[in-house]
Amino acid sequence: MDIRALGYLRLETTTLDEWRRYALDVLGMVEATGTTEDTLCLRLDDRAHRLVIQAGESDRLLAAGWEVANAAALARAAEELEEAGVAVKTADPAELAERRVQGLIHVTDPGGNPLEIYWGQAQDHTALGTPYGNRFVTGDLGLGHVVLPVPDIEAALDFYENLLGFQLRDSMKLPPQAVPTATEQRDFHWMHFLSPNRRHHSLGLYPGALPPRHRALHGGAGDPRRRGPGPRPHARRGHPHRVQPRPPHQRPHGVLLRPGPRRFPGRVRLGRPRRRPRHLGREGDHRRQLLGPPVERLIPPSEFRDVLGRFASGITVVATLDADSAEPVGFACQSFASLSLDPPLVMLAVGKNSTSWPRIERSGRFCVNILAEDQRATCAALGRSGPDKFAGVPWSVGERGTVRVDGALAHVECELDAVYEAGDHHLVTAQVVALDAGEDGRPLLFFRSRYAVGAF
Ligand SMILES: Cc1cc2nc3c(=O)[nH]c(=O)nc-3n(C[C@H](O)[C@H](O)[C@H](O)COP(=O)(O)O)c2cc1C
Repeated sequence: MDIRALGYLRLETTTLDEWRRYALDVLGMVEATGTTEDTLCLRLDDRAHRLVIQAGESDRLLAAGWEVANAAALARAAEELEEAGVAVKTADPAELAERRVQGLIHVTDPGGNPLEIYWGQAQDHTALGTPYGNRFVTGDLGLGHVVLPVPDIEAALDFYENLLGFQLRDSMKLPPQAVPTATEQRDFHWMHFLSPNRRHHSLGLYPGALPPRHRALHGGAGDPRRRGPGPRPHARRGHPHRVQPRPPHQRPHGVLLRPGPRRFPGRVRLGRPRRRPRHLGREGDHRRQLLGPPVERLIPPSEFRDVLGRFASGITVVATLDADSAEPVGFACQSFASLSLDPPLVMLAVGKNSTSWPRIERSGRFCVNILAEDQRATCAALGRSGPDKFAGVPWSVGERGTVRVDGALAHVECELDAVYEAGDHHLVTAQVVALDAGEDGRPLLFFRSRYAVGAF
């Protein structure tokens, strides 16, 4: 899909007056045609408007507008979205007139965020006349960026990367306290930054839901820059809104669009703060300083998976009897390896989200069943979370009270040795207390997220 840029944002607010003061007096935006008592339309450049903020009952995003080149590109976009099973609604003439665009479709992203894909927004070539002689860096790069809440971050990433064609530019880890609405308890949560153009990011994906007043998280309005010797931004004398903006060279990277006491917890960097490299000079001397604390460049999960998935492995089922219910409990495990001959140790990595592992850990013993090539169904059954994982899987109880899967290539009986914390996994070492080779045959392999078999 050929999306060019973030073109506009439409917001609803309960505090339109604050917005009016903030956008006009602090950020130096310009009122656009269409502004009424209840609706604030803002110009930043030669587009009819870039922001439309309407008074309403709640604070939320009404739409993020993504621009395509022309009618043909919009038709293709609609087709691709529908093919992918995304509901597409074509705008009616009144909506087109209100947005001053030639064509538009409505869609919703996997986080439920309303998007509008459009082409041909009207231009306004009259002098912009910003109050401080400032200008905004937009043009082909479009508006700055918008951050959208997406509780299912992987589904959203897939939507924006693989369907809308955005490029993933950066990912950063957020500590759990920065994502209080997360559905899963994790040591950290990923936040991703993407763009359809050269701008480093036009979109941030925040991995959670937002409290009601923060439905539209924040947006960067396109890097406001001062031009010429005009006066510095300042709150109007006697004006109730006392914000005294810092001069542009001291402003943070993203301009917070929703002024409010509970700011979105911005860029969070984990680990010890780094000492400022010498070449950055004194505070404020260097451009890096303008961007706030440096964000560690992290490897995007999709890239990590793609590259590491090229390491082929066998597959095992790690299983035992639950200490309380005596039911079989287990999971498919690829990250298994022999570790030490003397003493005989093996190791495996268990995801911290596993619900089976705490039960296996409690029992203190388990059998590692090395799967044969005809045991894909067993792997599929044990490779998902849920009840009755062993339904349809033939198994028996071994002498040591562990679960042995019938037809496995080998059984390795283990007693738990140690559990180490390792990122989003536990690294488990276990002592081998018995073992036997089962059926002669070829192993089930896993390579690039697919089952495979080899010739041996
Ligand atoms: C081929 C394959 C290999 C897997 N390897 C691992 C692994 O090495 N470690 C792990 O924690 N989970 C692994 N899983 C995922 C777990 O099997 C899965 O998350 C687990 O069954 C979740 O269920 P639970 O909540 O019952 O633990 C693998 C899944 C498949 C299909």
